[in-house]
Amino acid sequence: MNPQVIDALLDWGVPRLRDLPWRASRDRWSVLVSEVMAQQTQVSRVIPKYEAFMREYPTPAACASAALSDLLKLWSGLGYPRRCKNLHDAARRIVEEHQGVVPGELESLLSLPGVGPYTARAVLAFADARDVAVVDTNVARVLSRATNRSLAARESQSVADSVLPIGRAWEWNQLLMDFGAQVCTARLPRCNVCPIEEHCAWNDGPDPARSSALTSKPQARFDGSDRQARGRLMKVLAERGVRRRDVSGSMGLQGDSQRATRLLESLVRDGLVVIDGEWCRLP
Ligand code: ADE
Repeated sequence: MNPQVIDALLDWGVPRLRDLPWRASRDRWSVLVSEVMAQQTQVSRVIPKYEAFMREYPTPAACASAALSDLLKLWSGLGYPRRCKNLHDAARRIVEEHQGVVPGELESLLSLPGVGPYTARAVLAFADARDVAVVDTNVARVLSRATNRSLAARESQSVADSVLPIGRAWEWNQLLMDFGAQVCTARLPRCNVCPIEEHCAWNDGPDPARSSALTSKPQARFDGSDRQARGRLMKVLAERGVRRRDVSGSMGLQGDSQRATRLLESLVRDGLVVIDGEWCRLP
C-alpha cells in the first residue's frame, strides 16, 4: 500500500470508528480482557460481559484472587471457556511475577497463558499506543485482498508492519479491524463503498484471503458439535452441580454416554470441571 492509500484510509475510517467501551481505556488489563473476550466472539455479545467483568475484576489482583467458578459463571454464554481459565491463570502470573501490573514488553506478554502474537500486540498498541501492528482475522483478510496475495502468518505480520503509520498505531489498528468487520467482510464484501477500492489489487479472481493463514475459515457446524455439547454442560454447571449420571442429558446427548464421557473428560483435563464423587461442578 502506498502512503496515500494509508492516509485515505485513516481519513475515511477514524471518524467512523465504533464507540466501543474498551476503546475509552488505556489500561493494559482492560485491553487484555477485552481482546481475549473478543476473539471468536461478536462485539455485541462481548460488550455487556466486558462491562460486568471489569466491574467485578478491575485489576489482575482482583481477578487472581477470585474463584475460577465465579469467573466462569460470569463468562457463561460467551463460549470458549478455556479463554476464561487462561485469563485467570494469566492474572495469577501477573500478580506473582509482575507485581500485579500487566507487563509492557512483547516477550513478557507472549509468555502469559492464552496470549498469542495478536493479543500481545493489541495490548501494546491499544493501551500504550506503541508502534506495533496487530493482525487478527479481519486485518489478515484486508491485507491479503489489498495485495491480492495469499499470505502465510509471518507474511501477514510483515505486510502489516510495513504499512503501519508510525505514531498512529492506535487509530490505524482499530480502524483496520472495523474496516474488516464492516466493509471488507469475509462474505459479501462491500466493495461499492470501499474508500480504497481503486487501489485494491484484488479484482475478479479468487479471494486470496481464503487461502491465507490467519483469516477465518468457514466455521464447522455448531449444531451437533462437541463445542455445543460442552457448552450446554458448562451452562448448567454455572447454575448448579450435575450428577455424573445426568451429564449426558445435560449435554443433550441422551443415549450417547460414551461421547458424553469423552467430552466430560476433556473438560476435566482443561481444568474447567471437577468431579467430586457422584457430582460434577465448576472448579
Ligand atoms: N475485535 C477484537 N478486538 C477488537 C477491537 N479492539 N475493536 C473491535 N473489534 C475487535
